[in-house]
Amino acid sequence: MLPMSPIELFRNDHHACLMFTDLVDEDGQAVQANQFLIVDHGVGAILDPGGNLAFNELFLALSRWFPPQNLSYLLASHADPDIIASLDRWLTSTKAQLVISRIWERFAPHFTKVGKTENRVIGVPDAGGRLPLGRSELLMVPAHFLHSEGNFQFYDPVSRILFTGDLGVSMTSGEEARTAVRDLRPHIPRMEGFHRRYMVSNKVLRLWARMARQLDVKMIVPQHGAPIEGKQAIADFYDWVETLMCGIDLFDDRAYQLPTARIDAVTRKLQPQLRVA
Ligand SMILES: [Fe+2]
Ligand SMILES: [Fe+2]
Repeated sequence: MLPMSPIELFRNDHHACLMFTDLVDEDGQAVQANQFLIVDHGVGAILDPGGNLAFNELFLALSRWFPPQNLSYLLASHADPDIIASLDRWLTSTKAQLVISRIWERFAPHFTKVGKTENRVIGVPDAGGRLPLGRSELLMVPAHFLHSEGNFQFYDPVSRILFTGDLGVSMTSGEEARTAVRDLRPHIPRMEGFHRRYMVSNKVLRLWARMARQLDVKMIVPQHGAPIEGKQAIADFYDWVETLMCGIDLFDDRAYQLPTARIDAVTRKLQPQLRVA
């Protein structure tokens, strides 16, 4: 199936934010993922470009909208495979610099051939920063442990979109990811399981919500699933994450028992050990 055209999350004469939702084949093996292009006055950044599954399609789709040689940055919220495994190919095909947490700076070269990352990586310290883009800038907002240890979100002050990486994600198809959620309550079941397991702790969610409320956010746009749009839904999202127990809040001694189940390499399933009384 041919990919659908990207969604224009924002556009004016000098600034645009595009979202690609269906570039990874949905055959059930790889999780749906969104990639983003932000352009200001002819200068572009690509956000969380993804793995090798997305590269060809994204490069092609992107080229229809924007000359890839004018890409200044590859922004990586963290170093997961669905974020940046295609790094080698992006560094080969463009002149863009990789912008990533300083704690991943020396791990990212493992995605590339020798020497590819030389003078091409901007390592961002934990406090984040403001990155110039065209005549505007993007805020690298700290979101450590949400879920990765060195994790940034990207705030675009022109569109007032907060790109939240793996925070706020929902498990959907590429088609469903195209429609923004304006009522949070019915959406929570699609987010809950992921956040309980992938987010590290409620303490960090509370610290993040307190910081995020200081930003003027029109839309929260995650790396998987649908954007969350509108004052009420965003306020409800902050309230929801603040009360969510997750990660180490939920892990106790039961999660750290020596294993007994046998992994069957043929069926690729676990077979519980039968206990004889
Ligand atoms: Fe991730
Ligand atoms: Fe992800």
